[in-house]
Amino acid sequence: MVAQTMEALVSLCKRRGFIFQSNDIYGGIKGLYDYGPMGVELKNNLKQAWWKSMVYERDDVEGLDASILSSPIVLKQSGHEDTFTDPLVDCRSCKSRWKADQIKNNECPNCKSKDLTDSRPFNLMFKTAIGPVDDGNSFAYLRPETCQQIFTNFKNILDSTSRTIPFGVAQIGKAFRNEITPRNFIFRVREFEQMELEFFVEPGTDDKWHQYWIKKRLDWWIHQGISKINLKQSIVQKEELSHYSKATIDLMYKFPHGEEELEGIANRTDFDLGSHTKNQKDFSIFSKVIKNEHSTTKLGVQNLSDNKHYIPYVIEPSAGVDRGVLALLNEAYTEEKVDKENTRILLALKPHLAPIKAAVIPLKKNNDQIVNLSKEIKNNLQKIGLGRVMLENSGNIGKNYRRHDEIGTPICITVDFETLDDETVTVRDRDTMEQKRIGIDKLIDYYQNYFN
Ligand code: GAP
Repeated sequence: MVAQTMEALVSLCKRRGFIFQSNDIYGGIKGLYDYGPMGVELKNNLKQAWWKSMVYERDDVEGLDASILSSPIVLKQSGHEDTFTDPLVDCRSCKSRWKADQIKNNECPNCKSKDLTDSRPFNLMFKTAIGPVDDGNSFAYLRPETCQQIFTNFKNILDSTSRTIPFGVAQIGKAFRNEITPRNFIFRVREFEQMELEFFVEPGTDDKWHQYWIKKRLDWWIHQGISKINLKQSIVQKEELSHYSKATIDLMYKFPHGEEELEGIANRTDFDLGSHTKNQKDFSIFSKVIKNEHSTTKLGVQNLSDNKHYIPYVIEPSAGVDRGVLALLNEAYTEEKVDKENTRILLALKPHLAPIKAAVIPLKKNNDQIVNLSKEIKNNLQKIGLGRVMLENSGNIGKNYRRHDEIGTPICITVDFETLDDETVTVRDRDTMEQKRIGIDKLIDYYQNYFN
């Protein structure tokens, strides 16, 4: 089951505290969103699942958390200063701005005027001044992709971990793009997060590793709850490839607004390390790199069989966190008939992604004994460390169940008068709505088994 419309998702996200328009009370800023109490948990759980699968469950990947502000030299060498542009068209009548591919029949999509400028390249990077004097000479870019600092740290990581090729570096963090027309909720925004792995391999083994990572990443998304039929591989055509790529496969997801990219898996060849290395002439570099006169460090490695130095190739699975959140919300959103008159909205997220793992509900909120016992149960479950457990001490029980169905809480535990007599609680399952009595002494085992 998926949401029928984007509006249904946007409404749920606002109503239940997943995602809000940023700067809302001042009218909002286009292309910026804030994650609320439920959204931040869902997003963190998704990032944690990615980190676990990339770093903890493998023996050939290290992690990194690098700075967002980037030196212009880095983004000159990466090709972004010269080529990270979208073609921009202005409407002279209503002053709106468009990406050239949004213009049909040479007509402004807003006011239908044909008085349009020619298209011109518009660089998508945000700039900011560094230091107290904004004299235009000392500035930095907000990184447009997280991976460049993986390349500039390549030697640091290699030296400090004694890794040999093949190995990878994983990073999750913010990226910024001054999109001309941000749209479709959190799908295309100006500030977003990426989960990127740069996997360094020997030239000649790159095609094999590319295929390996495409399969891995498809399986991972399915494991997160994306249904197979909504996820497709699309080969990026030669003329559409980024300047660094020899081959890219996009994982396309059927979002409520249409089928679009969720993640790209690119063979970046030796372009990045080749562009950032000192003494480029010392290596036989395959790609057309940007001449480098500033780098202080050689970014080659030694081939142990012939002792020659070479620049490794890079396979890059690059996923958008926000697009992941949108896809997972879409997949999980379910409207279900409960009886003849009533329907319920249910967020059938996989338990490891659910913002709240369990809600403990005292049936009588002004009964100290019941409330104190509920708090004790909540604290004991919280200590296990599987994620947020909530003491739900508001509203009536029916409303609480509805709220927790909508935010995807897998289990609700109700403490009532019977609990005071026989030390059992009611445990309600989100998906089946089945309720059963469980002894408090069995609760921790039940909870742990549920999430394992
Ligand atoms: N380092 C490679 C890279 O950045 P990309 O295809 O431009 O490649 C990777 O971006 C992923 O980042 C995309 O698949 C998408 O999920 C996410 N992404 C890119 N631009 C975005 C935007 N404006 N808003 C939200 N997510 C975006």
